[in-house]
Amino acid sequence: MNFHILTLFPEMVMNGLNTSIIGRAVNAGLLSIEAVNIRDYAFNKHQSVDDYPYGGGAGMLMQAEPVYLAWEAVEGKIQSRRSLSAESDAALTEQTETPDQSGMLDQPGAPDQSEAAMRPGTSGKRTRVVYLSPQGDVFNQKMAEEFAQEEDLILLCGHYEGIDERVLEEVVTDYVSIGDYVLTGGELPAMVMVDAISRLVPGVLHNDVSAEFESFQDNLLEYPQYSRPEEWHGKKVPPVLLSGHHANIEKWRREQSILRTRERRPDLLEKCELTDKEKKWLEGLAIQEEI
Ligand code: ADE
Repeated sequence: MNFHILTLFPEMVMNGLNTSIIGRAVNAGLLSIEAVNIRDYAFNKHQSVDDYPYGGGAGMLMQAEPVYLAWEAVEGKIQSRRSLSAESDAALTEQTETPDQSGMLDQPGAPDQSEAAMRPGTSGKRTRVVYLSPQGDVFNQKMAEEFAQEEDLILLCGHYEGIDERVLEEVVTDYVSIGDYVLTGGELPAMVMVDAISRLVPGVLHNDVSAEFESFQDNLLEYPQYSRPEEWHGKKVPPVLLSGHHANIEKWRREQSILRTRERRPDLLEKCELTDKEKKWLEGLAIQEEI
């Protein structure tokens, strides 16, 4: 998966994402992350990227044109790469087809594989552009899963008081917030999104199981985990985890997940699919607690 981050602070983003799991995945070629400096597209007299808002008000706004030009450059590059790879795929198919099969493509009604159908910026599918803003939909695991299906994702980071509305109308497909608080810019939220999405890309976590069975999968929080030593500060590891009985361990973990979600995020428990047996078990617990 390829992330393209449009920002006035490329070093901030790159420095934050070049270590640990994400850095390793980039080195392994599973991900690519490029930070594009919007200032490089400030082709006006003063090379400025911001100006006062019409109608007055505090602070400065990022101007439309540099943002637009930066987006156009990135989208153009993505579309060219896609049409090049479509062309080489088509050439490969042609090579491997028998003469009869390849003739079929030229018949009326055959799928249009011509260059024009793939021309950059014309008929190629536009890359999704996420504008990080407190006004967006609040980011969650489901959204991360959905974005992880994309081959490319453009993340647009605002700064100062935001970005001229007109360019947002033209390029943005998704507005995303990382929570109900206001940050100084979109860079940290973009990094949060890249991290959460990247770990869902196959191969990034090495063991795919851990992405599947963790917090928020199924709307349940993760169960408590323990490592050596067996006793620490007088606290013992729950005996079932030492039993080697896998079915009992799974049952205990599921129950702990449900209890933890009920205690810490009851809002999530309402969205979670519990079996009839689990519902009865919870009802029984609630009755006991009332007594
Ligand atoms: N920019 C400033 N605050 C933000 C937030 N909470 N989420 C996304 N982008 C932001």
